Amino acid sequence: MSPDITTRPIALVGLMGVGKTTVGRRLAKKLDREFFDSDDEIEQASGRTVAGYFRDHGEEAFREGERRVIERLLDGKPIILATGGGAFIPAKTRKILKATAVTIWLKGDFETIMERVSRKNTRPLLQVNNPRQKMRELMDVRYPIYKEAHIKVDIANGPHIRTVNRVVKALQAYEKKLVE
Ligand code: S3P
Repeated sequence: MSPDITTRPIALVGLMGVGKTTVGRRLAKKLDREFFDSDDEIEQASGRTVAGYFRDHGEEAFREGERRVIERLLDGKPIILATGGGAFIPAKTRKILKATAVTIWLKGDFETIMERVSRKNTRPLLQVNNPRQKMRELMDVRYPIYKEAHIKVDIANGPHIRTVNRVVKALQAYEKKLVE
């Protein structure tokens, strides 16, 4: 892959359903990097599913666990990290992510996100009477915060690989700007 791509870890942030895990895994393959998913790591470390963790310990404890896991994973190795949709929101976790990784906000449009999240019912925050309204609320609260990521990439319609290609281009442009 291009030598211009950063050697820092790369962290994907953004709402549920934008494809952080799939895009991250393919990006890792393309850049020949190791891939991690913070939700998977929490599940492995705790022996619980994310939904089970929320149910048993609540969101606040989940955010603590999420921060610890992210801190552990971002130890300098140039990994690709897919974060859970809320990981970038608490100031402490966001600070760690921004200081140790190049952060990329994958931004999707509302209908694409809703279509994708409706395929799985494992997400605790959407176990509500009106998931569309909940998603709109999350967008309102989180978009101004996701904006703090180093790079924003609008997800492509169609196959995830198109988004992966957009991410690679955006990373190259970002690196180029840094050296100018
Ligand atoms: C969450 C998103 C989920 C998971 C948890 C909370 C959120 O990750 O971490 O359900 O707060 O948006 P995905 O974005 O991978 O679905």
